[in-house]
Amino acid sequence: MTLEQEVFAPTRPEHGVPVLKTERLTLRAPRHGDAGAIALLANDLRVSANTSHIPHPYGVDDAERFIASVNTRSGEACFVGTLDGKPIGICSVAPRNDAFELGYWYGVPYWGRGFATEAARAVIDHAFGDLGHEALLSGARVTNPASRRVLEKCGFQWTDVRLYRIRAINSAAPIDRFRLDRGLWASLKSWAGARHAV
Ligand SMILES: CC(C)(COP(=O)(O)OP(=O)(O)OC[C@H]1O[C@@H](n2cnc3c(N)ncnc32)[C@H](O)[C@@H]1OP(=O)(O)O)[C@@H](O)C(=O)NCCC(=O)NCCS
Repeated sequence: MTLEQEVFAPTRPEHGVPVLKTERLTLRAPRHGDAGAIALLANDLRVSANTSHIPHPYGVDDAERFIASVNTRSGEACFVGTLDGKPIGICSVAPRNDAFELGYWYGVPYWGRGFATEAARAVIDHAFGDLGHEALLSGARVTNPASRRVLEKCGFQWTDVRLYRIRAINSAAPIDRFRLDRGLWASLKSWAGARHAV
């Protein structure tokens, strides 16, 4: 690689993916060095069985493949959520069929502290604000009320239920599907910013 290439060629997979800061988290593109931490957290059926793509068991090789494959498609933005510099989970917007889908998972030790909602809101703002998406889809297994709640807290609205293959359990399961469009997002944002005039 020439010096020019070294300076100007952005290192995939960070290319085009900004760093987002929330109140407690830093969200950035996953890097090669995150593979061990990601594998440790994702190698848990409580995580993988609630996602469609994560296999079980899940090792460092799987995490390496995942990191190499993300942020390569137009309109895609995959972030690792870090707390004090340590990876705690993933939140992404990715093309699926003709739409863009929000997906996320967090390591079990970090559940129940509002991290998924905090990160999802930042990624949703990025998807509508910077990437210019018109709508986002998402889904949660019908047995996963925590994920459903995250989506509701982010303004998603239920649309229907469909069967999807869950790789970790090598079986299909019913998934509640949700949608958030730009108009509702913009309305929620302006409402949240409204102040009561004294
Ligand atoms: C779903 C998941 C992301 C939630 O992460 P989290 O950081 O704990 O989420 P948050 O703390 O932001 O919000 C969880 C909400 O669900 C609620 N909740 C948790 N368990 C619940 C249950 N059994 N029944 C009803 N609500 C529940 C919480 O009280 C919270 O709502 P509140 O803020 O109104 O109290 C996490 O459990 C996870 O990674 N699961 C495995 C992967 C997954 O499900 N991914 C999503 C599908 S792609």
